[in-house]
Amino acid sequence: MNIILLGPPGAGKGTQAEAITHRLGIPQVSTGDIIRAAIKKQTPRGLEFKTYTDAGALVPDALVHALVEDRLTEPDCASGFLLDGFPRTVVQAKWLDGMLEARGRSISHVLLIVVDDAVILERIVGRGLDPVTGHIYHTKFDPPPTPEIAARLIHRRDDTADVLSLRLREYHNKTAPLIPYYENAGLLRRVDGFGPVDDVKRRIADVLEGGG
Ligand code: AP5
Repeated sequence: MNIILLGPPGAGKGTQAEAITHRLGIPQVSTGDIIRAAIKKQTPRGLEFKTYTDAGALVPDALVHALVEDRLTEPDCASGFLLDGFPRTVVQAKWLDGMLEARGRSISHVLLIVVDDAVILERIVGRGLDPVTGHIYHTKFDPPPTPEIAARLIHRRDDTADVLSLRLREYHNKTAPLIPYYENAGLLRRVDGFGPVDDVKRRIADVLEGGG
């Protein structure tokens, strides 16, 4: 399966990606994670990315295309992949279609995780990433099980109320047009992102297994 996970910041894309990729045995390709890794290494490209992510703005399309092409042509993506955070604009979506078509491939599923902006702030400000396991915790909804894990959680620089409002604006202006784009292609399925993580997992599994 070649899957795209769509949804606003904090919708639960990363959380659900962990479960889907584990179940299907395909890699998660998160442009946010790739961009943060470059920023952490302080590569020249990483420093350029940082100016965008700190401002809650999307990184320019051409820069992201190169990252995605490199990653999707790695051997572990040959039998499927899950894209988390890409595409984010119609330009990126069209580029992806062309890049896959040139390799005889295509997207099989686009899952839109639907949540209201009202719940997003609480999810974002409580988020913490465990750098050892890669698991995404939340202080209230998925608290770390031990004080050791709690102490090592990483909080993202862009997870503040101010930056979130800019990220949401980018989402509504530039990413939401992907909804009609993939609807017209007959690929889009909406998944209710409210309620406990396990309930959302079940809804996604139903859609991927053809019952949802
Ligand atoms: P990116 O890393 O992709 O961030 P995002 O899309 O804003 O999404 P998030 O990672 O914030 O949220 P999520 O939906 O994964 O939620 P999560 O599962 O963590 O992008 C960051 C930046 O990189 C962008 O701003 C941009 O600058 C750049 N970028 C990335 N891709 C780009 C592209 N293609 N083009 C251009 N620029 C790009 O969940 C959030 C919290 O909620 C967690 O704590 C979790 O435990 C909790 N939670 C999850 N589900 C539930 C639930 N059902 N109930 C309660 N809590 C829940």
